[in-house]
Amino acid sequence: MALNFIPKLLLVLAFAAFSAGARRSELELKETHLSLFFHDIASGPNFTLIPVAGIAGKLWTFDQFGTAFVTDDPLTETPDRSAPIVGRGQGIYVTSGLDGRNTHVLISIVFTNKKYNGSTLEIQGTSKQFEKVREVSVVSGTGQFRFARGYATFETYLWDPATFYSVERCNVTVQHY
Ligand SMILES: *[C@@H]1O[C@H](CO)[C@@H](O)[C@H](O)[C@H]1NC(C)=O
Ligand SMILES: *[C@@H]1O[C@H](CO)[C@@H](O)[C@H](O)[C@H]1NC(C)=O
Ligand SMILES: *[C@@H]1O[C@H](CO)[C@@H](O)[C@H](O)[C@H]1NC(C)=O
Repeated sequence: MALNFIPKLLLVLAFAAFSAGARRSELELKETHLSLFFHDIASGPNFTLIPVAGIAGKLWTFDQFGTAFVTDDPLTETPDRSAPIVGRGQGIYVTSGLDGRNTHVLISIVFTNKKYNGSTLEIQGTSKQFEKVREVSVVSGTGQFRFARGYATFETYLWDPATFYSVERCNVTVQHY
């Protein structure tokens, strides 16, 4: 009885060691760099960014403390408006600096392209919205970006004041498993 038991136990231990090894290599930290272009329309019938709340009696503008915006921007890999859409930038911005200079960004990048379809990245942070380059943190992710951490920069690539259309370049650096 006892002799019969030992080899089985060894087998179980050997298997456990093997699967722990497999887990370790699956959990190797990778670094991914992405460059995405947000196409933003802040006016007209096809808007992708709109103020939804603000302080009564004040204009609901980007530089007015307390103004909340909702956005759903198509994302592409090149600045061209008609380039294939690889995902969407969905979330909210709230002007959270009393002086109107900083906005709090809470956006999900929701991928729909072949490579990352169904995965998301979560962006959160204070954006010094009137600076040339705004850096915010990437706090998490789902799917292929589980446990993601990193940062993203935003810079205005194109701004058309006549139609309130702008293109923002977003560079993402994330570490994930
Ligand atoms: C809004 O989108 C519709 C449907 O795609 C399009 O026909 C129309 O020209 C767009 N309007 C403007 C002002 O861009
Ligand atoms: C992404 O996933 C959805 C749902 O599973 C599927 O309908 C769609 O065809 C996929 N898109 C690509 C580009 O693979
Ligand atoms: C974003 O990436 C592009 C292309 O790699 C580069 O030219 C640009 O300088 C980067 N922007 C920032 C703020 O790092």
